[in-house]
Amino acid sequence: MRLDKFLSESTPFSRKEIKSLAGKGKISVNGTIIRKSDVQVTENDTIEVNGEKISYRKFIYLMMNKPAGYLSATWDAKDPVVVDLLPDEYKHYEPFPAGRLDKDTEGLLLLTNDGQFDHAVTSPRKNVFKRYFARLDHPAEQEDIKAFQSGMDLGDFIAKPARLEITENPCEVFVEVAEGKFHQVKRMCEKTGKNVIYLKRISIGDLQLDPELPSGKVRELTAEEIAAFMK
Ligand code: URA
Repeated sequence: MRLDKFLSESTPFSRKEIKSLAGKGKISVNGTIIRKSDVQVTENDTIEVNGEKISYRKFIYLMMNKPAGYLSATWDAKDPVVVDLLPDEYKHYEPFPAGRLDKDTEGLLLLTNDGQFDHAVTSPRKNVFKRYFARLDHPAEQEDIKAFQSGMDLGDFIAKPARLEITENPCEVFVEVAEGKFHQVKRMCEKTGKNVIYLKRISIGDLQLDPELPSGKVRELTAEEIAAFMK
């Protein structure tokens, strides 16, 4: 591919900036300074900008510990969005949320610019269970477990069988759903007569929210974590 494509996909530099850097002799390919940014390179070439080696990277995969108060979106006219929380080094990849959490929901949110990965995470056909911790305004009851399991009728759709686990404090529950319809967990709880007063996603499939990740921060997924969704 062209050098300027390679670098604009792998660094925050625009093609215009890359042209200018090349003109100033700041870019080398396999140790030779190049002055034109339209030369052809491959992933096997050693490319340096300002003396720093650049590895080719097109896609980005991030785990965020989403705080309440942010929309799961890339832009909004009124409210802050999760992309606002990203460090600058990731913004040029233009990541978007793979699945959504409500504005007031916290926890595990994935962001990527890879459409295939987004599909693997969000498609209901992939049957990836998302696990949530919920605090309710009234205690959950044993009969609610059956209601969650039996494919709840939510008016506009019938939910796939879901799991409800009641903890020692019956106002605190874990809910697992294999799809991600709008307000799904809240609506399922409401159907059993309880309102969700706090909601946090703690896992997607086998991927747990990293307990070391502070609220509002991101970390890159490991190669194994990415592969687990793509298989
Ligand atoms: N279900 C909800 O009701 N809200 C979320 O944010 C996620 C799942």
